[in-house]
Amino acid sequence: MPDGHFPPEQPVKVPLVTRPLGILETLRTARRNLLEIIPDLCTKQPIVSGKTAFVRWHMVMDPKALKRILKDNLDNYPKSDITKNLLRPAIGDSLFIAEGAHWRWQRRAAAPVFSHRNIAALAPIMSASAEAVCTRLQDTNGQADMFDEMVQATFDVISSVTFSGSGAMKSDAVHQSINNFIDQSARVSLFDIIGVPTWVPRLSRLFGGNPVADMKAVADSAIARRRESGAKEVPDLLDLLLEGMDPETKKQMNNAELRDNLLTFIVAGHETTALTLAWALYLCAFDADVQDQLRAEAQSVLQGRVATADDIGKLPYTEQVIKETLRLYPPASFISRTAQAPDELGGREVRRKDTVMVPIYALHRNEQLWEDPDSFHPERFGDGAKYDRFAYLPFGDGPRVCIGAHFAMVEAQIILATLISRFRFERIAGQDPTPIMVLTLRPEGGVNLKVTPI
Ligand code: HEM
Repeated sequence: MPDGHFPPEQPVKVPLVTRPLGILETLRTARRNLLEIIPDLCTKQPIVSGKTAFVRWHMVMDPKALKRILKDNLDNYPKSDITKNLLRPAIGDSLFIAEGAHWRWQRRAAAPVFSHRNIAALAPIMSASAEAVCTRLQDTNGQADMFDEMVQATFDVISSVTFSGSGAMKSDAVHQSINNFIDQSARVSLFDIIGVPTWVPRLSRLFGGNPVADMKAVADSAIARRRESGAKEVPDLLDLLLEGMDPETKKQMNNAELRDNLLTFIVAGHETTALTLAWALYLCAFDADVQDQLRAEAQSVLQGRVATADDIGKLPYTEQVIKETLRLYPPASFISRTAQAPDELGGREVRRKDTVMVPIYALHRNEQLWEDPDSFHPERFGDGAKYDRFAYLPFGDGPRVCIGAHFAMVEAQIILATLISRFRFERIAGQDPTPIMVLTLRPEGGVNLKVTPI
């Protein structure tokens, strides 16, 4: 690690548990904050195993074992029943949760949608959203919840690149549906975490029909209209997916598959990117030196204009700050798999049906893998950075790596560089956010910052 300046204190974190929790306590704690059930040992050891109620589980932080789970022995570790139960009601058997041949053909059909060329073509929408945030911030009286702002900014982007022009996706009601859905899913997960069998009806599943039905109806009508009107001049994600074809089987998505995948992009891509930006702004407010360096880079490249796709590659420090943000506050901070056959991970016996979890939050703060892990230090990701690829998994890895990673990185760089070039962000005493995990890693209380135009 390069020599450098470390801030005097550390950015906010969650105290992890230092003693075994019983079932009731696990439930009580998980209801408060899912992150708090991750044993503190996970930041010190390569693998931590245990049993809660009916389920044997392993939390894996050993990069070699992670490579085995996510890449070398992928077929033995499909996404866990937990993940599938959570997401299937909303996003069907889409790319995110499908397995085997049904996953493979969808991934092949969708891959070109996210090519660098296509994302560059969609980047003006990201620049417009960055400009819109700047306009909104000019009107605040010196203070704003930057998480709210970033949710709106990334929602503008994802709705414009999925359903734009169909007039269907702009409404607050749909936005509310997505939030309701995520909140409800989080409540379902409490049962799943302690291993209650999948046939036990979940309260929220019984009452949870409407937000999901709303989302599906909007998507269906957008697809129907687009089939009639044909592709737009600059094809958006919906057009590209409509054209998408698996080169091997020549299969194309039917309406239900298109709908499930579009909703997947919205659910998987919108809040995660907003969180990245909100946490990045908190960290910039936390460390004024980093913010100054970021501003110097952004102002010299942008010269007063909004960032565009052409600037990507010219903003290396911005990229480092975002990568370090994703290390400290990975939006998807927990992924899990179910073992299909006996295996061995990091010298530990894995039995069929064991739950294998990757607590990405703890992996990124593991003392054996990261120096001074709780400190904010973007230079870690500078030229010649040395870290094990499987010690850093904000987007997962292997064949099931996030298909939207480049999309998210481009969007985050455009919005962050534009904002920092035009505004100064400062903490407000007593208003630091608390990281809390509700499916994603959220800042409880928002990211309230003092905002001053430059
Ligand atoms: C900073 C933003 C994002 C983060 C941190 C993130 C994180 C992740 C992670 C960790 C996975 C792997 C999950 C697992 O292995 O269980 C994943 C998969 C996925 N993500 Fe993202 N994601 C982000 C943005 C996006 C965007 C913008 C989109 C789409 C527009 C997207 C779509 C997907 C899809 C479809 C998958 C499933 C891929 C497959 O299984 O083949 N994500 N994401």
